Amino acid sequence: MQKLEVIGGKKISGTVIISGAKNATLPILASTILTNKKVIINNVPVVRDVETMAELLKTIGSSIKFNKKKKKILIHNKKSLKTFAPYNLLKTMRAGVLVLGAMLTKYRIAKVSLPGGCAIGSRPIDLHLNALKKMGAKIKIKNGYIHASAKKGLKGGIIKFPKISVGATENILIAACFAKGETKLRNCAIEPEVEDLIIFLKKIGCRIEKIGKRSINVFGIKKLKPAKHKIIFDRIETCTYIIAAALTKGNLKIKNIIPKIISTEIKLLNKMGVKVVIKKDHIIVSRPKKLKSINIVTRPYPGFPTDLQAQIMILMTKAEGVSTIQENIFENRFMHVSELRRMGAKIEIKGNKAKVFGKSKLNGAELMATDLRASVCLVLAGLIPSSKTVINRIYHLDRGYEKIEKKLSQCGAKVRRLQ
Ligand code: EPZ
Repeated sequence: MQKLEVIGGKKISGTVIISGAKNATLPILASTILTNKKVIINNVPVVRDVETMAELLKTIGSSIKFNKKKKKILIHNKKSLKTFAPYNLLKTMRAGVLVLGAMLTKYRIAKVSLPGGCAIGSRPIDLHLNALKKMGAKIKIKNGYIHASAKKGLKGGIIKFPKISVGATENILIAACFAKGETKLRNCAIEPEVEDLIIFLKKIGCRIEKIGKRSINVFGIKKLKPAKHKIIFDRIETCTYIIAAALTKGNLKIKNIIPKIISTEIKLLNKMGVKVVIKKDHIIVSRPKKLKSINIVTRPYPGFPTDLQAQIMILMTKAEGVSTIQENIFENRFMHVSELRRMGAKIEIKGNKAKVFGKSKLNGAELMATDLRASVCLVLAGLIPSSKTVINRIYHLDRGYEKIEKKLSQCGAKVRRLQ
């Protein structure tokens, strides 16, 4: 089991290049099941989840070629694909369920493993399945698999999501591309990664119209065309590095990003006292003065992202006074707190609320990663004390952070991977 060793006390300064977003790449790859035209995807992050999705596509017969050096994926499916997504691939990468909508709308049948829960929550997919049923799908759950069929094909209609869901919005967007007639999606997630999927689907020929903040209309079509697409930057990776620089009082240039997409996060970090100079495609982060406490509530985009909650908690431990976090998206996303307490952090949890006492002294410790974003929060915590921190189970980290130890080392951190 690989570990990461961090010796803190070093400033995170210099320049870091942000990778493409894992959470945009996964739905876009799933949607390539729709097309038999040539597709070129650039700026693909070389992370475990993307490799797993590529493996899933290969398993069903996709012509996918992943050039990791060039961060490029080529797909040109000439023959029909299988409509089976096995448990062994979905058990580690829940987003595999995003192939369901694509398989069903193209082949009218699909057998996809139920993704199951994970450390941060039960992660149900009722919103996905109920919407597909509304579009005419027959769905049966048996032996841990979703057996879905739509003998006459999916049909359009009005789909109003009772709750905002990124994955459900993406799955139904893809399913609607070949459905008969028009599908009106309401109360959609509008994360930048969902927007990137819409841009990609329109590039391959799908007819999609955003008609309101969370309202999207899709017109079923059959004629597709070749396409080239560059994956949007990873906003969560970006803000992780902003926090790393702020934590260590570094001076960091963060490149290959679209600053306006993270305006909510930048505003909140400014309120804490983090200085962010915004340029066209990069930002420069520094922390000239003391950090102020702050109260955060996680919400769907454009609110503060749940995927950044663990990371900002670390920054709060260095602020003056008491900060609070209210986690509104997932029911169990404070798994990192017990590990931070072992480093000396003073954090109280009550239900979905965390109270973080500032100016706490953190000491190096041996820690256990539990999920992707919790694990990067432990790496950030390890950047603070000049003693040693060792993080176990860093396979969680490798799911979504490309070359994190290399990128951090290039910015002055003392971090290395232990076999
Ligand atoms: C996506 O997960 C992201 N994953 C998550 O990032 C992210 O935290 C989440 O959106 C919220 O922004 C990918 O894009 C691959 P949801 P998703 O459906 O789609 C409930 C990371 O670290 N819900 O928006 O699974 C659900 O339980 C990961 O990269 C239902 O009740 O999230 C949660 O409470 C972690 N029924 C809320 O909705 C459903 O059918 C939001 O979940 C679906 C979801």
